[in-house]
Amino acid sequence: MSHQIEIPPLMPQGGNVQGKRVVLTGASRGLGRLLAHGFSQAGALVTLVSRTEADLKTVAAELPGPSLVCAGDVADDDFNEQVADASVAEWGGVDVWIANAGISPVVAGPDRTEPSVWRQVLEVNLTAGFLGARAAARVMEPGGRLIFTGSVLGERPGKGLSAYSASKAGLVGMAKSLALDLAPQGITVNVVAPGWFDSPLMDGWKNSPKLSAAILGHTAQQRWGDATDLAGAYQFLASDASAFVTGAVLNVDGGYLLA
Ligand SMILES: NC(=O)c1ccc[n+]([C@@H]2O[C@H](COP(=O)([O-])OP(=O)(O)OC[C@H]3O[C@@H](n4cnc5c(N)ncnc54)[C@H](OP(=O)(O)O)[C@@H]3O)[C@@H](O)[C@H]2O)c1
Repeated sequence: MSHQIEIPPLMPQGGNVQGKRVVLTGASRGLGRLLAHGFSQAGALVTLVSRTEADLKTVAAELPGPSLVCAGDVADDDFNEQVADASVAEWGGVDVWIANAGISPVVAGPDRTEPSVWRQVLEVNLTAGFLGARAAARVMEPGGRLIFTGSVLGERPGKGLSAYSASKAGLVGMAKSLALDLAPQGITVNVVAPGWFDSPLMDGWKNSPKLSAAILGHTAQQRWGDATDLAGAYQFLASDASAFVTGAVLNVDGGYLLA
């Protein structure tokens, strides 16, 4: 496993999620692991999802509260339905579905972005979000919460990131449409758009002095996001306090999109 962010024993909390039954994809490392800790510390029951069972079990063993491990590919049509069913069997229902799994396998112009890679990015970052929403809406009751992990790169695209930026911009359009579709069911649908966080996905950027300086130069707070900066935003959107918030994008970016 690549480097892991150090997790403080008690992160700041953004809303009451005590007892909430939360499905969290991309939970095995990076931001997902951080969210798993944040929700578990706050008393949520968490279903941990990614492809690598051993890594999920490692995260499950670190958490202070109960969790369920579901290993599989979120881009698979049936897998999301299986996760929903397993969560209902384990917890009695699903209150929150966080579609957070994501990839960025290429930073290159169109000539060096293979069509198969483009499709893979869209499958995991966008289509899987839709599949998760479908599965969640089937089992959720009124008060349910869908949260997608977007990115500031969906709003301000980066060079060489056409597939990634398209997938994250697409999530915003999809979430707004789903917010309309699912409002009659009492389900809210929102996007959290992180800025630049220290995670294995960002190793290549953080380790490059030039790229790192460019990122910090745009970030008003002039620092990378850390372990205490993210979970509270998701907890607000997962809590009863956000009942009237739907179709929104919450940037958690230290001011990256300001300059
Ligand atoms: N880090 C940042 O600064 C940043 C900024 C903006 C947005 N984001 C977004 O935040 C999310 C998490 O990113 P991260 O930085 O935490 O990345 P990361 O460290 O690479 O973690 C990605 C997670 O997604 C899982 N995953 C990847 N493909 C999957 C698939 N097909 N099925 C199931 N799980 C899959 C990975 O586990 P397995 O490989 O075991 O499946 C892992 O748990 C992504 O959506 C990313 O686009 C990150």
